[in-house]
Amino acid sequence: MLRPLQKTDVPVLVTIEHTVQVSPWTEATFNTCFQSGYTGWVIELDQQIIGFIIVSMTSVECHILNLCVTKPQQRRGFGKQLLHYVLMEAKQRNIGISYLEVRRSNRPAISLYQQLGFKLVGERKNYYPGEPQHEDALVYARSLV
Ligand SMILES: CC(C)(COP(=O)(O)OP(=O)(O)OC[C@H]1O[C@@H](n2cnc3c(N)ncnc32)[C@H](O)[C@@H]1OP(=O)(O)O)[C@@H](O)C(=O)NCCC(=O)NCCS
Repeated sequence: MLRPLQKTDVPVLVTIEHTVQVSPWTEATFNTCFQSGYTGWVIELDQQIIGFIIVSMTSVECHILNLCVTKPQQRRGFGKQLLHYVLMEAKQRNIGISYLEVRRSNRPAISLYQQLGFKLVGERKNYYPGEPQHEDALVYARSLV
C-alpha cells in the first residue's frame, strides 16, 4: 500500500536510512523536511514500511530529495513504483520538470532513474561530503510535459 508520509513514520525511516544509505539522514533532517513543507509517500508491506520517497514540489519543479527501499525488498519494483507515483502526481499538478542529484557511484539508482526517462544534465563536483574524499553528484532531469 502506498500512502502519504506521516510525522510518526520518522523513527522507522531513520532506521531504514541507516541500513541502506551511505550518508543516512538523521531524525533532524526528516523533521526539517516537514517544517519546509516537503511531500513524501511510503510503501507498506504487511503493515511495515519498506520504502519511501521525499520530494520538494513547487509550481514549476519536482525535486526528488530521497528514495529508499529496505535491503530485503530491493529489486522487486518498489523503488520504481514510488518514483513513478511521484512523477504522475507532479504531472497532475502541472509541474513541468523533475530533477534529482545522485552519487556518481550509485549504479542501482542511476539505472532506475534512466529507466524512468531521466537524462543526465549536469554534475556538481564534491557535492557529497565524505571520508576520505567527497563524491560528485550527477544531476538528472526529466520533462513532465
Ligand atoms: C535505488 C533504490 C531505491 C532502488 O529501489 P528498488 O526497489 O531496489 O528498485 P526497483 O526494483 O524498482 O528497480 C528498478 C530498476 O532500477 C535498477 N536497479 C535497481 N537495483 C539495481 C541494482 N542493484 N543493480 C542494478 N540496477 C538496479 C534496474 O534498472 C531496475 O530495473 P530491473 O529490475 O527491471 O532491471 C534502492 O536500491 C535503494 O534504496 N538504494 C539505497 C538508497 C539509494 O541509493 N537511494 C537513491 C539515492 S537517494
